[in-house]
Amino acid sequence: MKILVTGGAGFIGSHIVDSYIAEGHSVTIVDNFWEHGGKQSNVNPEAKVYKVDIRDEAALARVFDEVQPEIVNHQAAQISVFISTQDPKLDAEVNIMGLFNVLGNCSRLGVRKVIFASSGAVYGSPDHFPVTEKSELLPESPYGISKLAGEHYLRDWARVNERTYTILRYANVYGPRQDPNGEAGVIAIFIKRFLTQQQVRIDWDGNQQRDFLYVGDLVRMHQLVLSAGDNKTFCVGTGIGTSVNEIYEHLAAIFEYRPEITRAPKRPGDFYKAYFSYSKAQTAFGWEPQVTLREGLRKTVEFFRNQ
Ligand SMILES: NC(=O)c1ccc[n+]([C@@H]2O[C@H](COP(=O)([O-])OP(=O)(O)OC[C@H]3O[C@@H](n4cnc5c(N)ncnc54)[C@H](O)[C@@H]3O)[C@@H](O)[C@H]2O)c1
Repeated sequence: MKILVTGGAGFIGSHIVDSYIAEGHSVTIVDNFWEHGGKQSNVNPEAKVYKVDIRDEAALARVFDEVQPEIVNHQAAQISVFISTQDPKLDAEVNIMGLFNVLGNCSRLGVRKVIFASSGAVYGSPDHFPVTEKSELLPESPYGISKLAGEHYLRDWARVNERTYTILRYANVYGPRQDPNGEAGVIAIFIKRFLTQQQVRIDWDGNQQRDFLYVGDLVRMHQLVLSAGDNKTFCVGTGIGTSVNEIYEHLAAIFEYRPEITRAPKRPGDFYKAYFSYSKAQTAFGWEPQVTLREGLRKTVEFFRNQ
């Protein structure tokens, strides 16, 4: 199949690209190589790459004309909750207007299916656990709002154009290639601090819980939804909440070293607890996470050690 992956030079997108190429698909990447996002070193040499911003209507249309993809996997986004609180307009320009540009080209060229990287941020601060696809949607940041708006626009696009979509609401994804210098991705940030023997900053009280999903498990989900899960929305998590303090302890055990901890207040847009049920995806096409947190952390540490 001809698949276009937006954001395919980024952390998650590049792993998806690798897996699609390994399965024999023809893959094109559109990425603007944003400073804390896409990297040339992530790019699979067998993929065709366009350095294009999804906000650039004319340039994006030229890519679609040349590639004529059958499936679009939309990963490109303004990914930072914090940046979205500081500059909600930028967030909307990329996550909403950029999505419009992608969907406009998909209608024009008869793209069969769009797979969308949504986020657990669409729920805000849930009060029942695990969070399911039916939990209340009350985003508490411009990022969560733009991802939720994107879900609605995509469903509407599929209905009006009689095409298909799959929406995946990711938990906190971690693994090799995650940017350790950004402000999101606590595991990559902590690993870099452990490796360089610097202080580790823990915000809030550190007992805030996240659902940490190894990128390889998410990639398997992306392989499955090429031919399953049409017109459905799925949470993608492990069903287990792990606190930031526990992540520190796991890494201290791996490194056999305890860097000094500095404390900082809660950051805007942050929420206290979230972990997600994967039973809908398990029932629909047999997906379940396979990599334990301990194993995933070891693989991720190994990657950064070799950098
Ligand atoms: N990492 C997580 O835990 C997580 C959780 C929930 C959802 N997501 C979503 O998953 C997707 C991938 O995130 P990631 O963690 O791999 O981040 P990432 O920053 O590594 O990947 C995003 C990619 O999009 C590119 N990009 C950004 N703006 C662009 C633009 N205007 N035009 C073209 N390309 C652009 C970046 O250069 C980057 O390569 C995003 O949609 C993100 O919102 C990630």
